[in-house]
Amino acid sequence: EAAQKNGYDTFMQKEMHEQPYVIRETLRGRIEDSIVMPELDGIDLRDYDHVYLIACGTAYHASLYAQYLGREWMDMPITCVPASEFRYGNYPVNAKTLAIFVSQSGETADTLAALKMCLRKGATTLAISNVLDSSLARLADITMYTCAGPEIAVASTKAYTTQLVLLAAMMVKLAQNAGAQVRDVETFIHDLKEIPNVVEAMLEQENVMERYARLLQDQRDAYFIGRQLDYVSVLEGALKLKEISYVHADAYYAGELKHGPIALIDEGTVVIALATQKEVAPKTISNIEETIARGAKVILIKAPGIHSDKIERQIEIPAIHPYLAGIPATILLQLFAFYTAKEKGCNVDQPRNLAKSVTVE
Ligand code: G6P
Repeated sequence: EAAQKNGYDTFMQKEMHEQPYVIRETLRGRIEDSIVMPELDGIDLRDYDHVYLIACGTAYHASLYAQYLGREWMDMPITCVPASEFRYGNYPVNAKTLAIFVSQSGETADTLAALKMCLRKGATTLAISNVLDSSLARLADITMYTCAGPEIAVASTKAYTTQLVLLAAMMVKLAQNAGAQVRDVETFIHDLKEIPNVVEAMLEQENVMERYARLLQDQRDAYFIGRQLDYVSVLEGALKLKEISYVHADAYYAGELKHGPIALIDEGTVVIALATQKEVAPKTISNIEETIARGAKVILIKAPGIHSDKIERQIEIPAIHPYLAGIPATILLQLFAFYTAKEKGCNVDQPRNLAKSVTVE
């Protein structure tokens, strides 16, 4: 096992550090001047009445990201639903449905059952899986793979970020197939190619996140806030923290703070805030300042050009297309969860009550 960990103490740390490589592998051959995805050549979203993204856990967060891009780029409803909800909800599914399933293992019971239901009802199905020949991959009409390699730690890291890059490329391709104009597409594709380097740079900030993680030493709760795409990243950041450190963590839309959660903020409460989306960042900053006024200790992850002198702990991601900013931010949040769990002496790779792949309902 020590050999498999390649010099790291835990699989999670090893897998976090593999991200630049596996992201490059996942994108290999997929980006020329435009996106190369021959699997999607026949798919034009204008042919469908309903488009769904269906997944569980971390893969559900990746699906939320794709939904956001879809909404930005296309004038078409794309609905993202957790598989366990989709199965029992009355979502219209028929021959004019495209259902996209995202799953690291390709074996999650709810995701598989949702896929089977969609197949029965005549939908077109597309699977994104990390495991070659998984049940999901075998059953779906079209399959695309992330190339994260085996992920051993229960908390998903490299599988998630490879899903994000594959989905980013896929949404560009689907938008273009549907005749949509993707704003700044050249910059987006250029920056997508740069992601492995950006991730590398974030991993070099490990010691900063290790220091920030000490803030949670005596805390039982943490509050994550963000707006728009930052909300997807804070959902994943809060999930990672809960999974491995057992700190109760919740993610809120920053604008929703004053509708309830702010009542819980007092002296010493830890707030992790993201502000990478320029148009809404000033609003988030003012929400952060409201928490500081109530005694919160804030960690801000921000994009260049976003400022507040009231926040003591700030860390900046590199300049990158805003729709890709969630990837470097996620790396920092993974490190934050990892060091919080280490600090608390938790079993990082095998947290209690959790399984790598949930094959029961
Ligand atoms: C479990 C794992 C999570 C994972 C989820 C979905 O809960 O602990 O890390 O995100 O299942 O798994 P899948 O293999 O479908 O992506």
